[in-house]
Amino acid sequence: MRRRIIAYAILAGAVVVIAAAAYSRETRAQESPAVLTHQVPASKDGGVVVMLCDGKTSMEVKGLKAGQSMTHEQALQVTRELMAKWQREHPDQKWQMAEQIAQKDESSQPVPAPSAAAGADVAKPSGTVPSPQTGAKPPTLGMQQGDTYASFTDRDYKIWKNETEKFVAEGKRIFHDTKELGGTIGVSCDMCHPDASNTHPETYPKYQVQLQKVALLRDMIVWCIENPVKGKAFNPNDPKLRALEAYIYAQRKGIALDYGKH
Ligand code: HEC
Repeated sequence: MRRRIIAYAILAGAVVVIAAAAYSRETRAQESPAVLTHQVPASKDGGVVVMLCDGKTSMEVKGLKAGQSMTHEQALQVTRELMAKWQREHPDQKWQMAEQIAQKDESSQPVPAPSAAAGADVAKPSGTVPSPQTGAKPPTLGMQQGDTYASFTDRDYKIWKNETEKFVAEGKRIFHDTKELGGTIGVSCDMCHPDASNTHPETYPKYQVQLQKVALLRDMIVWCIENPVKGKAFNPNDPKLRALEAYIYAQRKGIALDYGKH
């Protein structure tokens, strides 16, 4: 009798183990494939090799040893050289650098209406974060008209607007700060994407060759943190990643969504 109980117990244990293995294999299969990492070419002269977000264009920074960071000026120089190299290979792509944005600001050209500017790069005045619109108040479902709790107050809308602006401003801060990005060589996103230009958040989701999958904006952010910023990929729920995403989208307020566009 006792032996039989032990045998049953062993059998039940085996069933649980097999079921758990099958379940974990299934859930693993459902998870997205492992995130690709940059295949950075080997260094020739012992310097750090920095790669662009395209996963192709790279250059070796002479004299920069692994673990060393550049000064802000050096980092600007390297990012400019990288972008010049990229631009030579993509002569028909328009890429906005800070000087061009500043020039546009000085000539105080009116920003084209969103419909006219759809899909085009629009220079935003440097240093500003567009604010969300509060808009008309939606009626609250299931509430009687005249009910004191039927609609939100102006104070509520103000709080929500402030919270959203704070979130976007936090993303802006991180975007411009190599340390906050976890960067190791002194590079930050704004060096190539002033005011988040050239990031085209409205074109996501879209297939990105370097990631070999249909990417969301956040996938590209993480990919660019790895290189050229040379930081460690953020966890998908990292508040910094969420803030970066908020900032990049906020910069394109008014531009029509055009997912899949290249
Ligand atoms: C050294 C210059 C450089 C830096 C620094 C840089 N990028 Fe990029 N980024 C590029 C280039 C070049 C491309 C275009 C790649 C391509 O054509 O595939 C690009 C592409 C992107 C795209 C996709 C744009 C599109 O049209 O779909 C996003 C999003 C992006 N970068 C975000 C970032 C973020 C966020 C950071 C900071 C973590 C960053 N980049 C840092 C040069 C840079």
